Amino acid sequence: MPRMFHGWPQRAPTGRTSYVNGAYVPHADAHVHIEDRGLQFSDAIYEVWGVADGALLDEEEHFDRLERSLRELQMAMPMSRAAFKFVLRELVRRNAIDNGILYMQVTRGAVRRDHAIPKASPRPSVILTARRISKKAVEDRRTAGVRVITRPDERWARRDIKSTSLLANILAKTAARDAGAFEAWLIEGDHVTEGSSTTAWIVDAEGRLVTRDLSNAVLPGVTRRVIMEAAAEAQMPVVERRFTLAEALAAKEAFITAATLGAMPVVEIDGKPVGEGKPGAIGRRVQELYAREAARKAAGKEA
Ligand code: PDD
Repeated sequence: MPRMFHGWPQRAPTGRTSYVNGAYVPHADAHVHIEDRGLQFSDAIYEVWGVADGALLDEEEHFDRLERSLRELQMAMPMSRAAFKFVLRELVRRNAIDNGILYMQVTRGAVRRDHAIPKASPRPSVILTARRISKKAVEDRRTAGVRVITRPDERWARRDIKSTSLLANILAKTAARDAGAFEAWLIEGDHVTEGSSTTAWIVDAEGRLVTRDLSNAVLPGVTRRVIMEAAAEAQMPVVERRFTLAEALAAKEAFITAATLGAMPVVEIDGKPVGEGKPGAIGRRVQELYAREAARKAAGKEA
């Protein structure tokens, strides 16, 4: 029976353990205060780590971005990287995650509502959840490729900060879902900025990987960064520049990247096939490089 809460059925995921402000708690009981600034103002940032075969993917790179996001919002790291790492591993262990994701959110904390950032910092809220994702479901999706629709990019101008303020993103993702697609590519002028929760890539006529250059316009994807380094090492040309929707429709291949997906082939944009309308060899090679890099890092940690 789902738990009822003011008459609405709550989907209470059983058996999961989450982490809130220093304590490991049953997921269904995990909570923060109603005057938490994360709830009232989205005064909060987040990170998402993929977990593959029990190991955290790109662990340090996500911490680098976490620290940067916090700095941009004038927030301090609520605890050391080493302490965070301990908690991340503990959550993987307690939730028996083989493949899945770890979600972290740091909010400015709970304090009487006032728009300006409080002079005396409240204690930040630190929230972590872990969840399994079926490896097979991701691999089946990779074999088939995904459909993408386009939507106007209606987000704020600091998309480089991994803020929990994601209303425009969730509306775009919902439009994608309602259209039977997996992702929405966000369009500004003639150009693709990124996906609602993914980095957008195309493969041009010369076989080069093209993804948007970093600026305030896009989130600096960790998977993007790792793939760029791995591609450079493998002598695959990468060009960082913005591209138009017309270029994407004429591209040889397209794919999206995120911590939860690796490189996922895009086979259709707005109902039109990309390239041959099926996952391509270059995207597959990118995923192989990314998986190899993950395996190399995991082996390095064990050694
Ligand atoms: N999303 N762009 C946006 C807007 C994103 O939200 C994400 C990640 C990415 C890819 O970043 P990375 O490679 O570091 O995961 C790009 C996460 C997975 C999320 O919101 O759940």
